[in-house]
Amino acid sequence: MGKLFGLVGQPLGHSMSPIMHNTEFKELGLPHHYQPFELREDELEEGIKALRLLGVEGFNVTIPHKVSIIPMLDEVEQEAMEIGAVNTVYRRGDLLIGANTDGQGYLQSLLKLTGEDSLINKKVLVVGAGGAARAVAVSISRSGVGSLTIANRTLDKAEKLSSVCRPYATVDAISLEILNSSLESYDIVINTTSIGMSPEINNVPLPVQNVREGVVMSDLIYNPLETLWLKQGREQGAITSNGLSMFVEQGALAFEKWLGIKPDRSRMKETVLKKLGGQQC
Ligand code: ATR
Repeated sequence: MGKLFGLVGQPLGHSMSPIMHNTEFKELGLPHHYQPFELREDELEEGIKALRLLGVEGFNVTIPHKVSIIPMLDEVEQEAMEIGAVNTVYRRGDLLIGANTDGQGYLQSLLKLTGEDSLINKKVLVVGAGGAARAVAVSISRSGVGSLTIANRTLDKAEKLSSVCRPYATVDAISLEILNSSLESYDIVINTTSIGMSPEINNVPLPVQNVREGVVMSDLIYNPLETLWLKQGREQGAITSNGLSMFVEQGALAFEKWLGIKPDRSRMKETVLKKLGGQQC
């Protein structure tokens, strides 16, 4: 029997999730459907009740509801609680359980890129301390990392995020201003801010100076597929990666939570790339 899945957020016009999941359902011969539900903040509570009544099997949550949905759920997984945000909801019996696959999605895509099993020997720099940074920093710390530095324009937010991560790893917080513009002491540098995202494609989150050859520079942005910051890094010999793999991986992990089967990640990536109309960087 066909099951209903969905996406809750606002606005959703540019979301790649519906086409990614619906194409995968079709390719796997599953009669399910993934439907966007645009809900304003003041409609969220009633909207979630309506989804329960409709018998929704699971859904994703995106901006601006990732935090405010938490009290509307029956349970929330520990990692999602620590991140402080839910991007995936699944059903257990009559209960709606909140999870966060953004952080794990990012971690898996990063490990694939580095070709290693863990980050245990890596010095990692996360730029930004907003919602996306929380998912990335918490998951990286929980998985074990050599050391983690969180740099943010507003130092206070970086400090708060570091204290969440500190039980798991050696973490320090610095202000973006005093971050040494030389990135040479880091193995992996991750931009989680929206700086460089379309349409403001001429901005960079921090200067790319003296990048060591072979350093990993990872940008969570995937529109454009190659930000100016990644381009500058690539030209200086960095291994660069955009946010598309994370996006696909968080979707694939949600898919697995809902259905208990592994979707074809390469095919999901192809679907999104085709929709974006570009080439992978
Ligand atoms: P998201 O959920 O996408 O992470 P967010 O929670 O609004 O979005 O966080 C945005 C992040 O980008 C923050 O770390 C923000 O820095 P502040 O905490 O100082 O606001 C950072 N950011 C956004 N625009 C920036 C800019 N022009 N310069 C420096 N940092 C910026």
